[in-house]
Amino acid sequence: MKKCEYRSLPSLKEARNRAASTNNIVDDLKVPEAVKKYAKGRYFFIKTFGCQANIRDEETMAGYLSRAGLVRTLDPANASIAIINTCAVRENAEDKVYGEIGSFKAKAEKDPSFILGVSGCMMQEEGVAKFIEETYPFVSLIFGTHNLPNLLHLLNDVITKRERLVDVLSFPGEVVEGLPSVRLSSFEAYVNISYGCDKFCTYCIVPYTRGKERSRKAIDVVNECKALVNAGYKEITLLGQNVNSYGLDLKDGTSFASLLESVANLGVKRLRFLTSYPSQFTDETIDVMARHDNIVKWLHLPVQSGSDSCLRRMGRRYTRGEYLSLVSRIRAKMPSIALTTDIIVGFPNETEEEFEDTLSLCKEVGYSAAFTFIYSPRKGTPAAAIKDDVSDKTKHERFVRLVEVVEESTAKHSESLIGKTLSVLVEGPGKKGEGMLTGYAECGKPVNFLGPEYLKGALVNVKIKESHTYSLMGELVDDPLIAKAKDVAFLMEKDPLLHEFLALTDKISVDPIYHELGENLVQAKKDLALSMGDEKKHEVALKAYEDVLSKIQNDPFLANVTSLTPLVEEKLVEVRDLLK
Ligand code: 5AD
Ligand code: SF4
Repeated sequence: MKKCEYRSLPSLKEARNRAASTNNIVDDLKVPEAVKKYAKGRYFFIKTFGCQANIRDEETMAGYLSRAGLVRTLDPANASIAIINTCAVRENAEDKVYGEIGSFKAKAEKDPSFILGVSGCMMQEEGVAKFIEETYPFVSLIFGTHNLPNLLHLLNDVITKRERLVDVLSFPGEVVEGLPSVRLSSFEAYVNISYGCDKFCTYCIVPYTRGKERSRKAIDVVNECKALVNAGYKEITLLGQNVNSYGLDLKDGTSFASLLESVANLGVKRLRFLTSYPSQFTDETIDVMARHDNIVKWLHLPVQSGSDSCLRRMGRRYTRGEYLSLVSRIRAKMPSIALTTDIIVGFPNETEEEFEDTLSLCKEVGYSAAFTFIYSPRKGTPAAAIKDDVSDKTKHERFVRLVEVVEESTAKHSESLIGKTLSVLVEGPGKKGEGMLTGYAECGKPVNFLGPEYLKGALVNVKIKESHTYSLMGELVDDPLIAKAKDVAFLMEKDPLLHEFLALTDKISVDPIYHELGENLVQAKKDLALSMGDEKKHEVALKAYEDVLSKIQNDPFLANVTSLTPLVEEKLVEVRDLLK
């Protein structure tokens, strides 16, 4: 067995520390030579478990690996590097990870150059990295959430030292900008606005696995969003464990509401954000949401419990009354908004009365959907140390009762959409069969409808005909070809290359200098043709022609147009193919 170097192991005590200030670092993006050499002709595969923050981490890892020269594959059998990106929020998420690691055993044992990495939140828990290292000798690299910017250097050490490596840092205190990224979608994007969480809800492992709350500077977030809008992205989701506390650590007056407004003003078609913390959701944010049509009228507002005593034990810093008052304020400004939530059932010592308070809150709010979870003790969190007198049987019974209530309001919301025409962002072909497409309405519900595959990535109008509790069935209202043409026109409008080309050609067409140059060229060509047969005249005409040509070639504007022309032609071929 290869030797294993333990560089650092996680400590929950260290992870609990909150450094006073945050450093901003810009990644130098250097690729070590050994990694470059290893990468030639090889593929990587990443399997991600868990939330959007993990998906965004996958995109960053893909960015680093692509920069090194590796190519993404969706088939693990073809991969020379496979990374399993883990989630620690509940125990059942962890169980799946062990199965995934095991599935690589045969491959790893057959191919000594194969590198299996395990990363993410689960690695930040005490004991997990060591357990994996000892149980799965074919895992080459174990790294944590804070080690991500060091990925290529970790790989370099695994490749050059031919050793196994464990490096899981516990305290970050940093925001790294300039991270590379290969996004999983070309029309919907996640953008981190902050990392970590300082709320320390008593059941939750996230403040330990993701560390101190660190906001990115507003300018960095806005610039990233601007680039996405310019690249034709239709939907942006701003991400933070608690978006509402965004900016408080920057201590410069930046607030989530002002950031949200700045991003909305960039003109992205759909803007969403995840996740909200009720007691920090400001009226200013409600106003910004109401003011901007491109901010979706859907809000995920985790309540966790409808009982004041349970909320207190959970360390949630609001009461049932305060939550309901926030819901009323939101609905007063946006009456048709769809609300979704997260609920935990069976928190230690939850009483029947407390549970019923959760049921009644769900009925009162009328969620359009809800994610329901049975409490899962997370080692190291305060709730995990509480002696619990609720049996598993009771927890499961309550869970079933809660799901019934949630399903009822989900179905009611879906039914209320029948007959309405919704804007749907098309994901692609659906699972429902031949010719069916699937996409998401603004309220987050999947909509299935008949339509051509080429509408993938377009925003189309669909009239809802049927509801199936969790999804909707509808009919495409738009003519598919016109919808596609509009989509292509939108993408072309955003294309920086076309923008530059059109600006240059516009300038050239109105500038008298270029007009004269054009006339001179025509005249020089004519003179050249007429001079044929007379050697002396031809020599003079050729010289004059070459002079005009060199003036044209040396003009920076004209040179730009010449160099852009083949690129623009390439784009137009793409457009022609899209419209075929
Ligand atoms: N047990 C069950 N559910 C949990 N969540 C977070 N921690 C736990 C836990 N220990 C749920 C919360 C949170 C969602 C992402 O996961 O509802 O909002
Ligand atoms: Fe976990 Fe609470 Fe932070 Fe959400 S707000 S990530 S539930 S600690």
